[in-house]
Amino acid sequence: VRPPLRLGLIGCGRVSQLAHLPALAKTTSVTLVAICDSDRRRAERVARRFSVERSSSDPDALLADDRIDAVIIAVPDRMHVPLTERALSAGKHVLVEKPLGLTAEESSGLRAALAGTGLKLQVAAMKRHDPGVEYAKKYVCDQLGQAVSCHAWYRASSFKADWHATMAPKPIDPETPDHGEGKTDPERYYLATHGAHLFDEIRFLLGGVSHVTARYELTEGIHVWHGIIELAAGGLVHFELVVSLPAPWAEGFTVYGSRGNLSIDTHFPFLLRASDVRAFNAEQREWAEPVFGDTDPYKRQLDAFARAIVDDLPTCPDLEDGIAALDVIEAVAQSVHTGQRVSVNG
Ligand SMILES: NC(=O)c1ccc[n+]([C@@H]2O[C@H](COP(=O)([O-])OP(=O)(O)OC[C@H]3O[C@@H](n4cnc5c(N)ncnc54)[C@H](O)[C@@H]3O)[C@@H](O)[C@H]2O)c1
Repeated sequence: VRPPLRLGLIGCGRVSQLAHLPALAKTTSVTLVAICDSDRRRAERVARRFSVERSSSDPDALLADDRIDAVIIAVPDRMHVPLTERALSAGKHVLVEKPLGLTAEESSGLRAALAGTGLKLQVAAMKRHDPGVEYAKKYVCDQLGQAVSCHAWYRASSFKADWHATMAPKPIDPETPDHGEGKTDPERYYLATHGAHLFDEIRFLLGGVSHVTARYELTEGIHVWHGIIELAAGGLVHFELVVSLPAPWAEGFTVYGSRGNLSIDTHFPFLLRASDVRAFNAEQREWAEPVFGDTDPYKRQLDAFARAIVDDLPTCPDLEDGIAALDVIEAVAQSVHTGQRVSVNG
């Protein structure tokens, strides 16, 4: 039996309290040994609440601790790349929140920091570890044939706080304010923070992106992006990203291929449910509709991260996926700005 990996958590804000700390309490593949937040009181309160032995306000002290094998970096976006670089140079494996960095260019600096270290870097685009999305990926590889025509939608809901209130125990310490850091430019921030999920999932399911054409409107305070993604392997995706609507949370895909089709309905992430998936096999004229257990994508991404480290496997998503998601986000922004069809590296 292998000992579990020893993990440190940097950043004890909302996503850590809602998702990472509960997932760490469930998994047996890693043990949380220390947490850190630049707000010392928050670190202490969170450590007490989640029974973590050590807490501090200094990430470099946590990174210097040689009892720690790996870290989760869950701080505001502008600190992702600098802290990931420091963690790698301290010899720690890294699971870093999405988006990987502020820009693809900034994030590409991590290639040199990672090369030759033998360390693992995984981006916390946890939807890849939703068992419904995993099933869909396998279906696309084995049964769909050539992807031809796809829709992808991601409509964030303004009722988020109401769902937090239904989650037990109280999911966020009341002294953790919603800083809104980065939201001074909401058009840019929302495209990056939600696009990091949407475009990563499109790439995961359907492969690389060759061109993007997109439009944006701000109506009644609601940000709306529509666009067309041309897939490198052929096929078109129409995408819709909306932040935020007075409507139920709605995320999903329909994917039509040469040998079948697929629909995915994904739930509000912190409810930890698997996506509902229906897949049609045209040859057999049969629908499949799987049912899943162990559905917490945040726990499953931790287990996958631990497996990648222990068994020396590729991470999912890896550094290149994190950079490629930013390439698509930037292409969407550029197409909105210029009105042109933009070619993409991602
Ligand atoms: N994967 C998901 O489902 C998901 C959901 C929400 C947020 N996120 C991502 O997680 C990250 C954090 O988001 P959040 O909502 O938790 O933000 P938040 O502002 O609630 O929390 C960030 C925390 O980091 C701390 N911090 C800031 N700089 C630090 C530093 N240098 N060292 C240590 N601690 C520091 C802050 O004090 C704060 O407690 C963002 O990048 C966001 O995009 C991911």
